[in-house]
Amino acid sequence: MLLFFLQHTVYLSQPTYGNHPNFFSAAGFALKTYRYYDAKTCGLDFQGLLDDLGSATTGAIVLLQASGHNPTGVDPTSQQWEQIRQLMRLKRLLPFFDCAYQGLVSGSPNADVEPVRMFVSDGGECLVAQSYSKTMGLYAERIGALHIVCKKAEVARCVESQLRLVIRPMYSSPPIHGASIVTTILRDRDMYNEWIIELKAMCDRIARVRQQLFDALHVRGTPGNWSHITRQVGMYTFSGLNEEQVAFMTKEYHIYMSSDGRINMAGLGSKTVPYLADAMHAAVTRTF
Ligand SMILES: Cc1ncc(COP(=O)(O)O)c(C=O)c1O
Repeated sequence: MLLFFLQHTVYLSQPTYGNHPNFFSAAGFALKTYRYYDAKTCGLDFQGLLDDLGSATTGAIVLLQASGHNPTGVDPTSQQWEQIRQLMRLKRLLPFFDCAYQGLVSGSPNADVEPVRMFVSDGGECLVAQSYSKTMGLYAERIGALHIVCKKAEVARCVESQLRLVIRPMYSSPPIHGASIVTTILRDRDMYNEWIIELKAMCDRIARVRQQLFDALHVRGTPGNWSHITRQVGMYTFSGLNEEQVAFMTKEYHIYMSSDGRINMAGLGSKTVPYLADAMHAAVTRTF
């Protein structure tokens, strides 16, 4: 990629999925960050985001998560996305979407991909890295796609030939099994409808578990405002627990989560919520 694009700087949200810096630094990019998460509100630092993108190097790449932001569970609203789009087009920043949870936020793959469609329909360029690992339960199949939207057919032809040069020494030709599963489901109306029902069921279950965890902390009188548990979306809750509290929960309760306090809500169930709430309560009320 470095060979073919003049700008070698990529902006990542602060924080972001732990593997993002690895991908881009391995490809030789300079990494910069833009403000995203506001620890005070456990929500979006929208002004910080606008300020940082507003002062970003013209032409740089900006990595955006389409929906279900990892690790924060905080997504911009449609209006905020529109402002982000206008600013990025004005500054000629190149949008690179990571789309790993399409359908796992609202239950609708269409609704969850709205930010990408905003950028595509304005006629500008963008890249979309899409994964079916979570949305179709195909983690071990390593199935995804890279879409590159170009303004002109002529540019698209050049991009495709350059991509072939990148792919050839990397994996040469992709494995077909996972792709065949995805294609079969997307092409068959009955299977597609069944998949949509299952996606919605998963989203509804996560929403119920969010509410149960919030209620359990409320009942225990756990100090703090836990409303972000139900406000945040997708698979993750950025709990606000600090590294010491997480380490305590691992040591004393054998609860395993990333040290930044991110909880994967999909791994929780009604039966395990009380145990987690006990552990969180103990971690928060304990003096270190
Ligand atoms: C934001 C984000 N992008 C990409 C991935 C990885 O996707 P894949 O399973 O296709 O490698 C993840 C998985 O955790 C993710 O959270």
